[in-house]
Amino acid sequence: MSPSFAKIAPTYDALRPLSAVDRARLEAMLREAALGAEDLVIEVGCGTGRLTLPLAALTPARVMGVDTEARMLDVARAKDVAGRVQWVRGSAYRLPVADGTAGLVVMVMVVHLLRQRTRAFREARRVLEPGGPGGPGARLCIWTFTPRHVEEFYLNAYFPSLAVIDRPRFPAVEALTQELRRAGLSEIRVEVHEEVRRMEIADVVDRVRGRYISTLGMLPPLEYRLGLQRLEEMLAQDRTITLSQRSEWAIITAQPPP
Ligand SMILES: C[S@@+](CC[C@H](N)C(=O)[O-])C[C@H]1O[C@@H](n2cnc3c(N)ncnc32)[C@H](O)[C@@H]1O
Repeated sequence: MSPSFAKIAPTYDALRPLSAVDRARLEAMLREAALGAEDLVIEVGCGTGRLTLPLAALTPARVMGVDTEARMLDVARAKDVAGRVQWVRGSAYRLPVADGTAGLVVMVMVVHLLRQRTRAFREARRVLEPGGPGGPGARLCIWTFTPRHVEEFYLNAYFPSLAVIDRPRFPAVEALTQELRRAGLSEIRVEVHEEVRRMEIADVVDRVRGRYISTLGMLPPLEYRLGLQRLEEMLAQDRTITLSQRSEWAIITAQPPP
């Protein structure tokens, strides 16, 4: 079953606010890419523009957001009052730009949704400017959760099928690097970032009710109801309860060959 981003589009931003760590990571990525006004950044699977708009505010480059889901793009367009970003309904497998025209391609929380990852990486490689000596060079930057994140996810205790569903969706870093190489990308660099934060039980209940991660929408309905009921009972008993959420991200950068 595929997750429905059309359904969660209206509440997506409220349920998944950008953290200070996300912003710092965004800034570091742009610092490294060292883009100029003539460069193009493409965020593939941009969704509601949660990252695209802060990204556009931080770079002089032209920015394009590509997503398959019209409702997610509607939310993004409505937020982009200055018209800073070019929003395009399209697919990771066929980006709407000519060969060698992008300085940076970004995929954040998207690779787990792609059935043909190597094909999408090959397409990213096609649109990236050819590498060359000197200068920072064009690159693909991927942010995704690691298998360890899936195994240790804080909601697994309430919804045991989450890990079962996500295990095949979130590949090992080694599998991703192999696929990137197969797609013709090189200079592959991997960083693993850990993030721990405490979540108030009321926030957890709101997020689960809004099915803030796509996997919650893929659970057997009874399991979803029972897990939510347990969390709601905890909230009713004691609003001061907090849950500890530990996230583990793989940040992967790859470049086209010279
Ligand atoms: C989990 S959301 C992440 C959105 C955004 N990157 C963020 O971090 O807020 C994944 C997005 O990828 C989009 N998507 C899924 N498959 C895609 C594909 N083949 N090509 C382009 N976008 C895709 C979905 O529609 C959804 O908006």
